[in-house]
Amino acid sequence: MAGTGSFALEVVEYARAAGHGVLALLELVDQSRIGNEIHGLPVVGLEIEPGAAVIGLGGDRLAFWSRLVEHGWRAEPVVHPAAVVSPSATVDAGAVVGPGAIVGAATELGRHSFVSRGALVGHHVRVGEGAVLNPGANVAGNSVVGEGATIGMDAAVVNGVTVGARAVVAAGAVVVRDVDPATRVQGVPAKVFTRA
Ligand SMILES: CC(C)(COP(=O)(O)OP(=O)(O)OC[C@H]1O[C@@H](n2cnc3c(N)ncnc32)[C@H](O)[C@@H]1OP(=O)(O)O)[C@@H](O)C(=O)NCCC(=O)NCCS
Repeated sequence: MAGTGSFALEVVEYARAAGHGVLALLELVDQSRIGNEIHGLPVVGLEIEPGAAVIGLGGDRLAFWSRLVEHGWRAEPVVHPAAVVSPSATVDAGAVVGPGAIVGAATELGRHSFVSRGALVGHHVRVGEGAVLNPGANVAGNSVVGEGATIGMDAAVVNGVTVGARAVVAAGAVVVRDVDPATRVQGVPAKVFTRA
């Protein structure tokens, strides 16, 4: 498990529930933690013999993964057994699906994307690489969530909308129009946030 914070424990539990053995936590940020024990697991550096890993810390998931790749780590998907994933959906390497999430028909979850607890993803949705759907996010059918975008908890994205790469949809927002890349939107209906 890549990460040693509180979120790492959440993803460790998803991985174990999905039948994966978790041997150690990989420290990517604070080298002083290496050699300690956190969440009952040894904390190790990237230099150990590589195996399969999944991202369990907040931030730029693709950037974290590129560091692991340099050290020979390989990605596998983690799907919690209490998630419901359509048989026609695809879950790419490193993607994580939490308990209570529902993923609809022909939806694609890109590499290292994260679909959290209770998030709903409709049919024919494309969730880009490294994108994050926080708890209770509801992304309707035929929508696109761009690479590295974040959908806040309990936010809704109506059908057919594209949320651009690295955009942020605030918690509770209702997105009814396309969102430009690297733009933050919030409110109902969601509007671009500009600091006063
Ligand atoms: C959008 C978000 C990232 C902004 O965080 P932030 O940068 O710390 O927020 P700011 O302090 O810049 O807020 C600026 C303004 O936006 C408002 N705002 C912040 N979040 C908002 C939201 N979700 N909906 C509506 N308005 C919001 C603030 O009230 C503030 O307004 P004000 O200036 O009139 O007081 C954050 O609020 C959010 O929604 N994060 C998602 C959280 C989530 O899903 N967590 C899951 C954890 S498992």
